[in-house]
Amino acid sequence: MSSVSFPPAFLWGAATSAYQIEGAVREDGRTPSIWDTFSHTPGRTAGGEHGDIAVDHYHRYREDVAMMAELGLTAYRFSVSWSRVQPTGRGPAVQRGLDFYRRLVDELLSVGIKPAVTLYHWDLPQELEDAGGWPERDTAYRFAEYAQIVGEALGDRVEQWITLNEPWCSAFLGYGSGVHAPGRTEPGGSLRAAHHLNLAHGLATSALRSVMPARNSVALSLNSAVVRPLSQDPADLAAARKIDDLANGVFHGPILHGVYPESLYAATELVTDWSYVLDGDLAAINQPLDALGLNYYTPALVSAAETEVSGPRADGHGASEHSPWPSADDVTFHQTPGERTEMGWTIDPTGLHDLIMRYSREAPGLPLYITENGAAYDDKPDPDGRVHDPERIAYLHGHLSAVRRAIADGADVRGYYLWSLMDNFEWAYGYEKRFGAVYVDYSTLARTPKSSAYWYGKAARTGTLPAVETEL
Ligand code: FCB
Repeated sequence: MSSVSFPPAFLWGAATSAYQIEGAVREDGRTPSIWDTFSHTPGRTAGGEHGDIAVDHYHRYREDVAMMAELGLTAYRFSVSWSRVQPTGRGPAVQRGLDFYRRLVDELLSVGIKPAVTLYHWDLPQELEDAGGWPERDTAYRFAEYAQIVGEALGDRVEQWITLNEPWCSAFLGYGSGVHAPGRTEPGGSLRAAHHLNLAHGLATSALRSVMPARNSVALSLNSAVVRPLSQDPADLAAARKIDDLANGVFHGPILHGVYPESLYAATELVTDWSYVLDGDLAAINQPLDALGLNYYTPALVSAAETEVSGPRADGHGASEHSPWPSADDVTFHQTPGERTEMGWTIDPTGLHDLIMRYSREAPGLPLYITENGAAYDDKPDPDGRVHDPERIAYLHGHLSAVRRAIADGADVRGYYLWSLMDNFEWAYGYEKRFGAVYVDYSTLARTPKSSAYWYGKAARTGTLPAVETEL
């Protein structure tokens, strides 16, 4: 392996999620998820946009798989819509729903693309939310049952499994700041949700293993924050530690080490008593993993609150008068200096390197995958119909170089999934933010690979990064 090439077995993937791309929300027995309800509630998403049609992947999956194959991708991470498989969130599976994913997987395998299934990318069946949602313990048991159903249906042909995508967002944006579905703003409830998501992950991992061949790999994807203190002042260092607990320790503590950090219990004692952590829970959560997925976009810069600056929320998680960070009113988030993407997120590939090295230490020996990384830009087709996105190429080059450096520094990174394969429904931002390597014209749903898609395909085919200014 030369100093610039990637390991031969490195996976070059793209990622998507069910609600963001599928559409067909009322077909084949699917029922509403919390994102259907939320996006149809006035004022919740930009322009009232929703995923009813999204990019119609449910009907166009063959075309989408062919496009990935043509570009040269070797892996594809997608999520299963829980309410398509188990409409009420409990009980028997709907075979028509599972059949869609069987067909999708077969299509991927037929062109040599390795599927990675995410079981939960934020779309809880509405009936389970009506019964209390993630703050309720029963939701974790329901998730394990659902995991078993999908594991039985696809375990023979899918090797890579991810239980949860970014449980931080489900817990703290869904039940804390309320900028994500179901839109609740309960600081204590968000911590209860985090615990039950952890429990769901542990129970689902066991359930998957009970029905799947042993060769399959079970992981989860964390959007672990890269938290940087504004200064070395002890108060700023304490602020950074608190956010690290609330963003990272709350998940990797029990999942990787079987404990919640003592400092997390202490920091949150005014909003929750943690009495919902029952005997045996930590052992159930602390299942050995086969891999860990890391999603990275931008680092966080924090200080103690005395240095309060005016201006919009700088924690990158949308506009809400409610903080997603329970018990952290004494922490201020600052805009990291540097160029930003269309999301306002600072571009900093060193954060990705730091993140990988941190988890190499936190979980020695555990293979790592970058399960999401990418950038939104205001892409527009040229008069000749082509879409040039040099900023995205530069972003990908910078971040993939950081991955390569981490591998050179000893990290076991096995693959990278670009977020996202194509433009799609970006949650509360609607269709305004384009993260795709492939452009979607929302009036016709036509797909046009952007120049970054060709650039990335070339990287996938050669195992090295083309120069940013490569003619494509
Ligand atoms: C991640 C989500 C993904 C997408 C990207 C931009 O937090 O997992 O669905 O919204 O951010």
